[in-house]
Amino acid sequence: MKTKAVLAVVLVVVSSLLLGSCAAGISQEDYYAVIAEWDAAQEQVANLQSDYISLQALRAVTLTRGPYLQSVTPTSILVAWETDKPADSVIEYGLTAEYGSIARDTALVTRHVIALDGLSPYTTYHYRVGTTACALSGDSSFKMAAVPEQKSFTFVAFGDTRTNVAAHQSVIDVILTVDPDFYLHTGDLVGDGSQLDQWNSFFQIEGDLMRNTALFPSLGNHEHDHLNYFDLFYLPHNERWYSFDYGHAHFICLQVDGFANHSPGSEQYLWLEYDLAHNDQPWAFVFFHIPPYSSGPHGSDLGVQAA
Ligand SMILES: [Fe+2]
Repeated sequence: MKTKAVLAVVLVVVSSLLLGSCAAGISQEDYYAVIAEWDAAQEQVANLQSDYISLQALRAVTLTRGPYLQSVTPTSILVAWETDKPADSVIEYGLTAEYGSIARDTALVTRHVIALDGLSPYTTYHYRVGTTACALSGDSSFKMAAVPEQKSFTFVAFGDTRTNVAAHQSVIDVILTVDPDFYLHTGDLVGDGSQLDQWNSFFQIEGDLMRNTALFPSLGNHEHDHLNYFDLFYLPHNERWYSFDYGHAHFICLQVDGFANHSPGSEQYLWLEYDLAHNDQPWAFVFFHIPPYSSGPHGSDLGVQAA
């Protein structure tokens, strides 16, 4: 109570001083106008500071992964890349290295992904990625998927790259000479999916391929069902099992890695039944990690055979 009484006296004194000063040379309206101007000026300074910080951040950005291509269809594709600092996302693209079209996302992020759509089937586009301030990558290209009427295309499937860097690199070098339309990885991309440095090595080795060719991977037991896989790839459906069409073929990726249920009645099994029932393409390819039949050291998998 005593404190309240003291505060009331102080307020009365301050008010009378202010009113006194108003009476001496400035009206109450003018006083409030000056305060409003001061507030507006402070807001302007804050906005300028924020713009300055954003511009500084954009200038210092470095490309740390990619760009790489995901989930290509006849008319759409996802382009992904990473930067060391949060930045906005810009793709310049077009039929030539002059580009001509721009897609932009103003959100400041380190993991960038932009969907391009309205493109032409089986057509090659040039592109480069960057920020509003500058381009971060050199010129690369992507080819859109073929429509069902197209009966011929090329793809490559391989797997178990794990940590054998030399063998991995030599396989990628050969694939680069084949220049496929897209490629599949049958799992065990890395030796331990929780280790980001192994993913960095994977992207380093496959960088030249992934920049120009869309990758459709499947999960292996060595990915350990780790979040890194789902952070790094942008795949159809639930990213664990999915399907897509390319030309007159239907491709189905399954999660047969020891971490997901694929037995009859499981969510994955029911999805596969539904997907096959709705496929009207003459060719169907199914890819997954643990083989039902194998003469290798791991042998055949009876559970996969039974499913
Ligand atoms: Fe494996």
